[in-house]
Amino acid sequence: MSAKPLDVAAVRSRFPALMRPGAGAFLDGPGGTQVSDSVIAAISGALEAGIGNLGGAFEASGHSEAIVAAARSAVADLFDATPDEVVFGPNMTTLTFAVSRALARRWVPGDEIVVTRLDHDANVTPWRLAAADRGVRVRTVEFDAADGTLDVAGFHAALGPRTRLVAVTAASNALGTVTPLADLVAAAHEVGALVYVDAVHHSAHRLLSLRGLGADLIAASAYKFFGPHIGMLVGRRDLLESEDPYKLVPAHDHGPDRWETGTQSFEALAGVAAAIDYLASLGEGADRRSRLETAFGAIRTHETALAERFLTGVGEMPRVRLFGITDPGRLEDRVATFALEVEGVHPRVVAERLGERGLYVWDGDYYAVGVMDRLGKAPDGLVRVGFVHYNTADEVDRVLAALDEL
Ligand SMILES: Cc1ncc(COP(=O)(O)O)c(C=O)c1O
Repeated sequence: MSAKPLDVAAVRSRFPALMRPGAGAFLDGPGGTQVSDSVIAAISGALEAGIGNLGGAFEASGHSEAIVAAARSAVADLFDATPDEVVFGPNMTTLTFAVSRALARRWVPGDEIVVTRLDHDANVTPWRLAAADRGVRVRTVEFDAADGTLDVAGFHAALGPRTRLVAVTAASNALGTVTPLADLVAAAHEVGALVYVDAVHHSAHRLLSLRGLGADLIAASAYKFFGPHIGMLVGRRDLLESEDPYKLVPAHDHGPDRWETGTQSFEALAGVAAAIDYLASLGEGADRRSRLETAFGAIRTHETALAERFLTGVGEMPRVRLFGITDPGRLEDRVATFALEVEGVHPRVVAERLGERGLYVWDGDYYAVGVMDRLGKAPDGLVRVGFVHYNTADEVDRVLAALDEL
């Protein structure tokens, strides 16, 4: 089904933070997105209705159980999985530390794992530390500094019979590059390795399918896709059941909650379901997954137009240097996240000047330390301008004009 075009004015009217009088242009989506009115209502509604802990014999405990079930079902639709394949945790980093420790229990000296230089450090250091604990070798796949694409040949070369795990991003939070996940997953599985996908940056822009990809584990964070601050892990049921998480004795032995340590933020979980329902409301279809598919089609069309406009504009500015894919003909392979520098102006000063004009952009390394090392931009990093579906062509023009004036 073809997607109905995105009505950006209608979209923006759903985001109180964007509509606040005097609000700036939120071009910091890669660092965290704003939330829709329905997310705010769901969070406060959950708290207003009365929340009890899980497993109690009274009504408010039932509220929390319903919230958890609804959140698992919504996230399952977002990642084309089943509700019992959805685990929640404080954020992606904490979940990745937990999973890396659990998977590493089965590693033995001489085993190997693969990480990439394109990844956010949250998908590198937890694995490195787990590998060091177990005497496991870490192979690092590079990316092409000229266009920010993963070195696919290098990836294949890094795989071997002792590879136990591959940790790879779906999209770079610095350069916006999208990785060819299906091929990477297939190659990793051929050597018997598990694949842990960091979908944190990808999830605001494109839809993934656990089933379709055949990936083993996908990690994401709701605050990057218009929801509240809470992380999630979507994993193959048999894997979640067969691996051994570090857990307390009375915690469940079966089901996704065996991976969930302590008490979850029920109010945030109410917000997660609302964020996914908001995204689905942008699409059409008989069920939530098909509405999400059409919604992300419309989001992609809109973001591609913004990216093209931005790339064309920056291409005319000799003092602005953009990293990653710069060819407007290759927008399939990148999302609308741009790392750049302005000749002779420190990234922090660029961000401050733009901030004074109500243009909210990030600067620094955004924890993509491998990217900055490879580009020779550590420790100061680069300016990052990110567009998501609630951004407008006018905001692109405003940031272009401001960059030109610097
Ligand atoms: C690509 C990517 N991965 C992982 C993370 C870490 O996510 P969290 O803040 O949920 O730990 C981020 C946060 O910026 C990110 O952009």
